[in-house]
Amino acid sequence: MKTLIIYFSAERGTTRRVAKDAAQALEADLYEITPEKPYTSADLNWKNPLARCNREFFAKKDIPTVGRIENFADYDRVLIGFPIWYGCAPLVVSSFCKGFDWTGKTVAAFATSGGSGIGKTVEKLRPALPGADLRGAKLVRSGEEVTRWLSM
Ligand SMILES: Cc1cc2nc3c(=O)[nH]c(=O)nc-3n(C[C@H](O)[C@H](O)[C@H](O)COP(=O)(O)O)c2cc1C
Repeated sequence: MKTLIIYFSAERGTTRRVAKDAAQALEADLYEITPEKPYTSADLNWKNPLARCNREFFAKKDIPTVGRIENFADYDRVLIGFPIWYGCAPLVVSSFCKGFDWTGKTVAAFATSGGSGIGKTVEKLRPALPGADLRGAKLVRSGEEVTRWLSM
């Protein structure tokens, strides 16, 4: 089975570390979602009502990204990793996912957070993954937690 881990990480690289460790353990390929306009720390300051993250959250518009996955069709299983933003996956993640044909893919999501639970992450992500066999989402702190979860 060929596995791809797609991830987004913005603040401190927490999700990047988890994704890289999981990719190594699973012998999976890694792809980082890159917003066309990278997030600065001012952009991510959710305590400021006018910060970019808050404006985007309320606007609910897709966030453009750069780069593409050339060989997406080759993967049977896709893991999607991201930080929890406002209780679910960041808009840039669902925006990116909408560009692919998910038919026949087994998909699972993992997330890091500042304390929130996984909430309704799966339900909210599902419309961006038409045709996927979406197995669930788990809050994790390490790549090892991801691999343990998948082997259950
Ligand atoms: C815009 C924004 C919204 C966030 N919303 C939440 C939230 O609702 N619940 C939570 O526990 N953490 C929230 N966080 C914290 C991140 O989920 C947490 O720090 C995550 O581990 C960061 O991962 P990263 O370093 O890979 O970006 C938020 C962070 C940002 C920047």
